[in-house]
Amino acid sequence: MTTTRFLTGITPSGTPHLGNYAGMMRPAIAATREPGVENFYFLADYHALIKCQEPERVHRSTLEIAASWLAAGLDPERVTFYRQSDIPEIPELTWFLTCVTGKGLLNRAHAYKAAQDKNAEAGRESDDGVTAGLFMYPVLMAADILLFNAHRVPVGRDQIQHIEMARDMAASFNHLYGEHFTLPEAAIEDNVATLLGLDGRKMSKSYDNTIPLFCAPAQLRKLIGSIVTDSRAPGEPKETEGSALFQIYQAFATPEQTAAMRRAYADGIAWGDAKQMLFECIDREIAPMRARYDDLMAHPEKVEAALQIGAGRARAIARPFLQTLRAAVGLRPLSAAQPQAQGAQKAGKAALPAFKQYREADGKFYFKLVAADGRLLLQSTGFAAPRDAGQAIARLQKEAGALQALAPQLAPVAGVDAGEVSAALQALADTANT
Ligand code: ADP
Ligand code: TRP
Repeated sequence: MTTTRFLTGITPSGTPHLGNYAGMMRPAIAATREPGVENFYFLADYHALIKCQEPERVHRSTLEIAASWLAAGLDPERVTFYRQSDIPEIPELTWFLTCVTGKGLLNRAHAYKAAQDKNAEAGRESDDGVTAGLFMYPVLMAADILLFNAHRVPVGRDQIQHIEMARDMAASFNHLYGEHFTLPEAAIEDNVATLLGLDGRKMSKSYDNTIPLFCAPAQLRKLIGSIVTDSRAPGEPKETEGSALFQIYQAFATPEQTAAMRRAYADGIAWGDAKQMLFECIDREIAPMRARYDDLMAHPEKVEAALQIGAGRARAIARPFLQTLRAAVGLRPLSAAQPQAQGAQKAGKAALPAFKQYREADGKFYFKLVAADGRLLLQSTGFAAPRDAGQAIARLQKEAGALQALAPQLAPVAGVDAGEVSAALQALADTANT
């Protein structure tokens, strides 16, 4: 059986909460017990520096999150569990990728655009307060993923764009220097609910409405007591829809318990009683882990030792791979021979648009046309066989009218006009003829 390599990072910039646990850690740990998978989970502490410039907080959060993973059942024997900043190959690869990434691609990253939009609203200069770190965030994330040739990257929906960018960077690098990188795919958990917080909005450290995963039982009880509810009195039927309390209960209860709670709502359970049931339900699951967590927090050296083992395993892969990549881009001892080029390396190639062919998880074959600066110009729909995709590309490169003829096989790309696509095809045709 071929193994699928899963890789994901979590940014240590705060204290983990019930939403992080139920939405991310618990399913991620369950996934490591599946057959045919390899898992790489890491603490993205270089990423933390982008949004948090409080050294103590980054340090503390790294310990809290690492201890949480271990306490929640992550088995460091089974999972390569490491800290990003222990892998110097990641920043080195970041630079290689930086040099094949169009600036235009990064201009379109959601995180960067959101910062710009905020400035526009406040009437400030568009890059006000934006660091180059925020701008480069997608490249660092691509390096995390590509260094280990991960197939699947479990992330929240807000991160899908970053995985797509990582694919683009991988394809550009492969195109220039040979087939070194696997094109990763996002793995989105559809059936994991987003937990609501104390105020009924999404539970998030940015909203300060969280229940920390490992707070003391008294604190847990107190926070559950402060979850907003409506003013319905005991005996009055209550709505489960939109109830943060019900939704958190559901994330920790069995289906039978959830059904019983649903009936209790209809029968008009008092909010105080429902909160007591929620407390008991969460505490039953968390209490054994809390003991492990408290022990790890009291002995950070145990956490450090686990991370060092992970770093050793990760670097055993990263170090030789980076040597190959260094040689591929031309950084090698002067006495060393030229590496076997796996891809064509024509002078001036970087300045041209390029077709890229790939296979998606649906088993179909796709291609796209990418401008020299990395922007997507044309995107195909799926073909049953790679030959069909290849023939469509060949037609586009040869015939002026192919763009119209093939329109049914092409998906529209927002913000790109037909003139630009024709010009790119013409540029390719011109070089093919010289
Ligand atoms: P926060 O919103 O608190 O800053 P992060 O963005 O650091 O959380 O998220 C870390 C992980 O936890 C991500 O995989 C994210 O999808 C998951 N997560 C965060 N908040 C929730 C929530 N309320 N419910 C479910 N999953 C969540
Ligand atoms: N940027 C991700 C987040 O904020 C964390 C992260 C960093 C990551 N590097 C990664 C996730 C690589 C998956 C793969 O959630």
